[in-house]
Amino acid sequence: MKRNILITGGAGFIGSHVVRLFVNKYPDYHIVNLDKLTYAGNLANLKDIEDKPNYTFVRADIADLEEMRRVISEYKIDGIIHLAAESHVDRSIKDPFTFARTNVMGTLALLQAAKEYWESLPEKYEGKRFYHISTDEVYGALELTAPEGIESPFTTAASSAEHHHAYGEEFFLETTKYNPHSPYSASKASSDHFVRSYHDTYGMPTIVTNCSNNYGPYQFPEKLIPLFINNIRHRKPLPVYGKGENVRDWLFVEDHARAIDLIFHEGKNAETYNIGGFNEWKNIDIIKVVIKTVDRLLGNPEGHSLDLITYVTDRAGHDLRYAIDSRKLQRELGWEPSLQFEEGIERTVRWYLDNQEWMDNITSGEYEKYYDDMYSNR
Ligand code: NAD
Ligand code: DAU
Repeated sequence: MKRNILITGGAGFIGSHVVRLFVNKYPDYHIVNLDKLTYAGNLANLKDIEDKPNYTFVRADIADLEEMRRVISEYKIDGIIHLAAESHVDRSIKDPFTFARTNVMGTLALLQAAKEYWESLPEKYEGKRFYHISTDEVYGALELTAPEGIESPFTTAASSAEHHHAYGEEFFLETTKYNPHSPYSASKASSDHFVRSYHDTYGMPTIVTNCSNNYGPYQFPEKLIPLFINNIRHRKPLPVYGKGENVRDWLFVEDHARAIDLIFHEGKNAETYNIGGFNEWKNIDIIKVVIKTVDRLLGNPEGHSLDLITYVTDRAGHDLRYAIDSRKLQRELGWEPSLQFEEGIERTVRWYLDNQEWMDNITSGEYEKYYDDMYSNR
């Protein structure tokens, strides 16, 4: 079936994996990747598919309502997968307004433009879908009731036999009350509410998913894993916030992209699905796995880079534990993570070490200059 799909934020980390998957898997779809190319957007993430006939890139700001109206009607968009966002918690603490502008007002502009276009068509909302990608951070933080970990009641391919403990009995469900703490998660929570309001008020076919921490290739090196891989390579300090005891639930990015594909096609309107791999790690433990893997792949003796660990002042309002219960998605749509965490980390570290030019272009700022020359409307 021919479809015109708008993917926002496709030049970012997760978005680039989603764009790649859709462009390659669905040659009959026209994939329009709309991205503002902020510091986090990098077209080098999509080099391998940029010349495909079913792919178009548009540089635009989702908060620009006129531009959203133009793009959605010009490309006759019938499905939207919305990933564009400001995504880094530390930046939201320094500059909350940018987060409100993009994540809240940008999502609202996109919703409104889609509503106006779809309501102008004879078939209206039939065959249409607005799929909003959100985060587990909207649910707030869970208690760390078992600091040493307990046997997890749930295991998946992501949480290997060797590592399958949980750090508490509670998990985030789709019905868990929203309780965001950072300006980032507050802005994502607000955007989730706006999406649901467009379903409840205007009948727009919407879906929201809330996913846990992603890791994998093409992640911007401000986030824990790529930052630390790069710092180890350059023998720079590894800033561990607080005591390194916070717990995150890690999912390989390609498994998230597979879930997005499945939910976009088979999810039920107005539903929420949580996405996660039952794969909880304390920061300090994951950091030690990263150090061990980088040292081994660089040929350093075991333990060589442990001395780079540097405990620093904690992040303000630092959420203690995130843990997603993704059984609804597994039960209703049959999704399962495909990759064991140990294998995912190995692939991830190898990718960053093999793609040093990609990393160096970012850390030197070269990639941004390139866009300024190419797109003068910045
Ligand atoms: P990212 O920061 O790597 O990419 C965001 C992309 O959005 C960039 O390409 C950027 O240029 C673009 N963008 C930012 N502001 C824009 C604007 N005003 N108009 C158009 N484009 C704009 O983010 P990511 O980690 O890939 O996250 C993607 C989405 O998934 C976000 O909505 C985030 O909240 C959500 N999410 C992320 C994770 C994670 O672990 N990274 C987990 C769950 C959910
Ligand atoms: O849970 C999903 C969320 O995961 C997404 O919605 C966000 O977009 C994404 O950025 C991520 O948020 P986190 O704040 O969990 O990710 P980050 O990589 O920034 O940090 C992971 C953990 O590591 C967190 O507990 C803070 C800690 N940390 C992070 C950095 C960058 C450090 O200890 N030192 C660091 O330098």
